[in-house]
Amino acid sequence: MELPRGALLLVLLAVAAAASSAGATLAVKAPVPVPVPAPVPAHAPPQPKDAEGLLINGNFETAPRKVNKTLIVGRHSLPGWTLRGHVEYVSGGPQPGGMFFAVPHGVHALRLGGRASASQNVSVRPGALYALTFAATRTCAQDEALRVAVAPSLSPPADVAVRTLYSADTADTWAWGFRASSAAAQVTFSNPGVQEDASCGPLLDAVAIKELPTPYPTKDNLIKNEGFEIGPQVFKNSTVGVLLPPKQKDATSPLPGWIIESLKAVRFIDAAHFSVPAGKYAVELVAGRESAIAQVIRTVANRAYNLSFVVGDAKNGCHGSMLVEAFAGNVTQKVPFESAGNGGFKPASFRFVAAGVRTRVTFYSSYYHTKVSDGVSLCGPVLDQVKVQPLKA
Ligand SMILES: *[C@@H]1O[C@H](CO)[C@@H](O)[C@H](O)[C@H]1NC(C)=O
Ligand SMILES: *[C@@H]1O[C@H](CO)[C@@H](O)[C@H](O)[C@H]1NC(C)=O
Ligand SMILES: *[C@@H]1O[C@H](CO)[C@@H](O)[C@H](O)[C@H]1NC(C)=O
Ligand SMILES: *[C@@H]1O[C@H](CO)[C@@H](O)[C@H](O)[C@H]1NC(C)=O
Ligand SMILES: *[C@@H]1O[C@H](CO)[C@@H](O)[C@H](O)[C@H]1NC(C)=O
Repeated sequence: MELPRGALLLVLLAVAAAASSAGATLAVKAPVPVPVPAPVPAHAPPQPKDAEGLLINGNFETAPRKVNKTLIVGRHSLPGWTLRGHVEYVSGGPQPGGMFFAVPHGVHALRLGGRASASQNVSVRPGALYALTFAATRTCAQDEALRVAVAPSLSPPADVAVRTLYSADTADTWAWGFRASSAAAQVTFSNPGVQEDASCGPLLDAVAIKELPTPYPTKDNLIKNEGFEIGPQVFKNSTVGVLLPPKQKDATSPLPGWIIESLKAVRFIDAAHFSVPAGKYAVELVAGRESAIAQVIRTVANRAYNLSFVVGDAKNGCHGSMLVEAFAGNVTQKVPFESAGNGGFKPASFRFVAAGVRTRVTFYSSYYHTKVSDGVSLCGPVLDQVKVQPLKA
């Protein structure tokens, strides 16, 4: 099924309008004049919205119309996507030349060569926050970057450093957040680098989008999104969690309310595949002191507060003596946790006095940890249930 994108957007809007007017009709109990239904174009197809938020052909399982060996021929040859430059259509597994490509979702993925890109237009709500989830792997010896950009939006493009530090034998899944500024947004993934071999570049697979609600603090807890329950799409089949890249501001973070600081990622983990202390999600501090998670809260100067949280391990083969450092106001607390890889956790809390009307609450792992099974995949302590409560004077 092929439709020009413009027509598809109109159809989606018409379907949404029809759905909401149907909802309104059902809610009315008293007999009232039946509203004239909005005219639905005769050709409107039922638009099955992907349950996991995949974009159109978001896992690249629908093949391009024309390829020369693996090279995709023609900018509009790949259903759903507009391509630029050297883009290959690859199948996972062993490759000629001894490489192994990990394709996490289905069989196929895109390989973006030097300066190549793939883009798709999506319909969004202006002002709303979104997270894009995507799988990425490097394919050549060098470190590779994958640039993600949304235009127009209130977020500048970001480069994700695609290395194989985070999981040694599978593709990593990443998430990136943006705030939409108009109803149509062009999502573009590109390879900003150029290597000697024009085909060298990251593999892209499983691209999904999720709208995120804005979290608010409450009277009893000044921390927003305190249990990390609002976050990016996690694919049901994916066992590796979702990496959240560094330098994420709280306003556009894929983990709403939270700032991801410093140089490396934190991992967003789900209860289906990891041990999570409470609810469905938590964060794993996988990059030692090189990555911190922080939130700025509103406080009253000289007032005392109680910061509480739990630390534990994700039951992912990460053993050893862990130490989480927490900072708030004028206080630093180090919370040790002995991990046997069983998914235990323990609570911690301390009192701090706010210096001003804003207080930064920060957490990081003091040590670096790698999985016992391979000795290279980064892992670390889990953080959940963060709470700041004003104390009676
Ligand atoms: C996607 O949106 C951009 C910017 O609005 C536009 O230039 C482009 O033609 C659109 N692409 C498709 C395939 O509709
Ligand atoms: C396929 O690519 C090769 C190498 O770039 C080129 O020589 C050849 O003409 C291409 N074949 C077709 C059918 O386009
Ligand atoms: C998840 O796995 C099932 C069974 O292997 C497969 O049929 C399905 O396509 C997978 N879904 C994704 C999004 O990869
Ligand atoms: C701080 O909060 C924790 C968790 O709710 C609680 O166990 C602890 O007693 C509180 N501390 C103070 C000083 O209120
Ligand atoms: C923090 O500030 C409070 C009030 O000014 C003070 O009583 C307390 O000793 C300070 N704590 C530290 C660790 O400096």
